[in-house]
Amino acid sequence: MIKDKKLLIVGIGETGILAYEYFANDSEYEVVAFFADKEFVVESTFNGLPLLAIDEMKNYYSPDEFYAFVAMGSGHLNRDRASIYNRVKELGFKLASYVSSHAFVWKNVEIGENCLILEDNTLQPFTKIGDNVVLWSGNHVGHRTIIENHCFITSHVVISGFCRIGAYSFIGVNAAFADGITVGLDNFIGMGTIVNKSTEADGFYVGNPAVKRNISAKRFCKVS
Ligand SMILES: CC(C)(COP(=O)(O)OP(=O)(O)OC[C@H]1O[C@@H](n2cnc3c(N)ncnc32)[C@H](O)[C@@H]1OP(=O)(O)O)[C@@H](O)C(=O)NCCC(=O)NCCS
Repeated sequence: MIKDKKLLIVGIGETGILAYEYFANDSEYEVVAFFADKEFVVESTFNGLPLLAIDEMKNYYSPDEFYAFVAMGSGHLNRDRASIYNRVKELGFKLASYVSSHAFVWKNVEIGENCLILEDNTLQPFTKIGDNVVLWSGNHVGHRTIIENHCFITSHVVISGFCRIGAYSFIGVNAAFADGITVGLDNFIGMGTIVNKSTEADGFYVGNPAVKRNISAKRFCKVS
């Protein structure tokens, strides 16, 4: 594949390393540097590339020439990721999305910026994926489903057609959603949960069928 775009990865945890692997080996982007908040910049290199503070990004790399990708986990129900994404956007960088060459993406699917869509995802016709969405490996996103900004869908999640997944939500492995379900803003859906009714905002749901527990969703997403 011709590498005709240059990419800056923001994030030096496991997600940063994995983003490097995917972009470097399966995209038109050449990864040229890593970035983190300055308190985490204790070495001058990371993963064999320069490591610099986010605040210095524009001093070394022009937003006209370089794309950025914010690669972070789901800490604080995706608020950590969203806040760095907003900062990098405010610096003027265009945010790249990665879509695996091993994902099935129908031709009219809409995908926002700074998305990470890994292998074996199925995105059926008319689905819409917002900005800063992670679809880890092996999910099914049924026809006309909408996944709002900043969601983190883990693996082997089945989302039937005509669903809407509210912004910032975290969906655990092997969860399943009946067709037409709306998941409220800020939900944490535990692994293996069977969601057969729409959910309320700020909900923590587990079980088959899904039951709302009196627990803060934010408690369950550890700091990345
Ligand atoms: C929800 C989750 C965070 C619970 O974590 P935990 O710290 O072990 O929490 P607890 O054991 O205190 O669970 C709280 C309650 O929910 C129940 N519960 C937890 N997870 C459940 C699940 N997946 N299905 C059904 N019930 C579940 C527990 O039995 C417990 O019930 P109780 O209060 O009646 O005893 C965890 O089960 C989960 O789903 N993690 C997501 C894993 C994942 O998808 N990882 C992807 C990595 S990218």
